[in-house]
Amino acid sequence: MPEKPIAIVTGGAGGIGEACVRRIARDFRVVVTDTNLPAAQKIADSINGIAIEADVASERSVADCVAFAEREVGPLDALIMCAGIIQERALSPEEFEQSHWDEVQTVNTRGTWLVCKEIGARMARRGRGSIVTVASIAGLRSFPTHSYAASKAAVLSLTRGLAVEWGRSGVRVNSISPGFTLTPRLKELIEVRNWDVSAIGNQTALGRWIDPEEIADAAAFLISDQARAITGIDLPVDAGWLSSINWLSFNGIPPSRDRASG
Ligand code: NAI
Repeated sequence: MPEKPIAIVTGGAGGIGEACVRRIARDFRVVVTDTNLPAAQKIADSINGIAIEADVASERSVADCVAFAEREVGPLDALIMCAGIIQERALSPEEFEQSHWDEVQTVNTRGTWLVCKEIGARMARRGRGSIVTVASIAGLRSFPTHSYAASKAAVLSLTRGLAVEWGRSGVRVNSISPGFTLTPRLKELIEVRNWDVSAIGNQTALGRWIDPEEIADAAAFLISDQARAITGIDLPVDAGWLSSINWLSFNGIPPSRDRASG
């Protein structure tokens, strides 16, 4: 049997990253990397992959991680850049502290740049590879989470630029923009803060939240050969939120025809 190609997933120890690791393990040997090594190790062990501790915001840490991964497992064929932090509360610009702005930008924007730079450059020299970055619907519309939304808009821009930069070198670069995705961490936050999030699912065309596995399916498609002519695009996986949100300014989103007629 031919050897499986090799993929690396950053932020692979939790949420969307973990779902990506489990989904692509069918077709790839997977390197799971995260700041949370014990959790990454547990997941890697369960899929016969390897775990490496790395902080995407640190150039040294990223370089060491990638060098170690390629030495131990072989040249990386695919990258899913999931590591990221959310801005947990909406804050006005007047309330916003620079330290908080910097924290979000450092992980989401600088982290995406550092990881893509390190891995994409290696892929480009070898003439093959596929990268998926994780942006957000927050990067595509106005959101009151100013630092987070700006960081994701930067991810979208960077993704398009890198797709052109490395396209002739055989490397595809695309992004996914998840909508509201019910990860274990988000579920915990909703419970602890007693947030009323009932409106969120109702605002989407499909009338529901998204599961991390649904983001993982889209990422698996984009890194696969089935997407070989696709580069420089953003694929929203948002249950139709981008299309439906403006309908709330009119009569709202039509109910299911089945229920309406029943
Ligand atoms: P999560 O918090 O469940 O998982 C993120 C993982 O990244 C964790 O395992 C964490 O340890 C790791 N991580 C954080 N900082 C890191 C760093 N500096 N270096 C390496 N690893 C680090 O988050 P979730 O929800 O799975 O988010 C994954 C990505 O999806 C993020 O980029 C997030 O912005 C994006 N996203 C999530 C949405 C959601 O509704 N959950 C919606 C839109 C985008």
